[in-house]
Amino acid sequence: MNEPVGIALLGSGVVGRGVLAILSEQQDLLERRTGLRFEVCHVVCRDVNKNADLAKTYNLHTDTTRAVSDPRVKIVVEVMGGLGAESPINEAIRSGKHIVTANKALLAARGNHLFPLAKKHGVSIGFEASCAGGIPIIDALTRGLLSNRIDSLTGIINGTCNYILTQMTEKGQTYSQALSEAQKLGYAEADPTLDVNGRDSAQKLAILASLAFNCQVNERDIHITGIDTLQADDIRFAEELGYAIKLLGIAERVGDSLSLRVHPTLVHHGELLADVNGAFNAISLYGHAIGHQFFYGRGAGQMPTASAVVADILGVALGIIPHTFARLNIYPGQLEPARVLPFEQLRSRYYLRVSAADVPGVFADITAALGKHHISLSGVSQKESEEDVSVVPVVVVTHRATEGDIQAALKEIDALATIKSPTVCLRIVDVPKEFA
Ligand code: NDP
Ligand code: HSE
Repeated sequence: MNEPVGIALLGSGVVGRGVLAILSEQQDLLERRTGLRFEVCHVVCRDVNKNADLAKTYNLHTDTTRAVSDPRVKIVVEVMGGLGAESPINEAIRSGKHIVTANKALLAARGNHLFPLAKKHGVSIGFEASCAGGIPIIDALTRGLLSNRIDSLTGIINGTCNYILTQMTEKGQTYSQALSEAQKLGYAEADPTLDVNGRDSAQKLAILASLAFNCQVNERDIHITGIDTLQADDIRFAEELGYAIKLLGIAERVGDSLSLRVHPTLVHHGELLADVNGAFNAISLYGHAIGHQFFYGRGAGQMPTASAVVADILGVALGIIPHTFARLNIYPGQLEPARVLPFEQLRSRYYLRVSAADVPGVFADITAALGKHHISLSGVSQKESEEDVSVVPVVVVTHRATEGDIQAALKEIDALATIKSPTVCLRIVDVPKEFA
């Protein structure tokens, strides 16, 4: 019988506890399938009292250095979160330990340093759990889809936001009720601002787009708007038009450039992405050979995320991840910077909600400003305001226009004396038929 594979687990919160549960409860299954046994040599947390239940079974303490320098430890599993995890990961790599991490914030910010460092020290980094929870999208991009030129990757990649939007749409919950439930269910980040302001999605998109398009994508390359400013009226009006609003991360080829963005988006109910609800995530991508592929599964929460972490532990212990990691030239730190399409050059269809005073001539002023900037309309409807009868919400759906033209037109519209508050502008996603 081989020696058990030694693991140091940094973090015993939502995900860490899921990892411990799988490793202990599925020990026999894992051994039958892989011939390997695992020993959790250290569990590291911040507050031992809070985690006292684990001390009966595990070597629980707060000393990351002691954990990562233990010679029995072959794999350091980092599920602490935050940029502060860089220091113990650095230490672990320099001590020759393989890393498994769920920390997209750290990989997006420091991957171009950590990946080369790991290569230099002959160890690997498994990061399946960093993007889309339990969906094996990293495995797909680094193995199953390697022969494809990827043309577009569009995803619902934040479970918290998708849960909030679903609860607001289907259960009539308020934004804050839904966010607080997402936190209780273990979906949200320690700082949920990162979920709702779109940065968590952008960090994941940076990781996925770097792998998919073979270039270095950084969070700062991505235009980001979250759901924190979204209003319930727009969810309702979009539904009336036949669209769901989803927070999408989008990376697509436009000529020689990449359009990179995260924003609330209108998705027609005929599209698969519109039916992805709750904490589920989905990634819709187009490869030149494979055509359309759609990945769907639980994108946040304890056990789906732990499933991805343990898959990486197995991949490292079996030598699959170390082999791939050493051989492939696809990781941040060894890629050319992405050529990013300036956001104002984006072409899209738009949903606009103008808050107009109920006076004659206002419609004409709005359409004149849009026409002046080459924006043609596919629909206009006047809604009823539930709060202020002197304000008329006018919903405009445009044909394809450039972001620059839309923003120039909105500047003029919002300067009109008859416009009572800034116009809401949301993008409408179209299935990229050119890739279908
Ligand atoms: P939690 O906040 O639930 O757990 C974090 C754990 O790390 C806690 O046990 C905490 O200790 C410990 N910890 C934090 N800082 C330190 C430190 N400086 N030293 C030692 N221990 C520390 O977070 P999650 O489990 O939800 O998330 C962990 C990681 O997984 C994050 O990177 C997150 O982005 C990622 N992730 C989370 C998903 C989810 O659905 N929750 C899904 C996919 C990825 P203590 O218990 O004492 O507070
Ligand atoms: N907070 C993240 C989410 C966890 O809600 O998607 C999964 O990465």
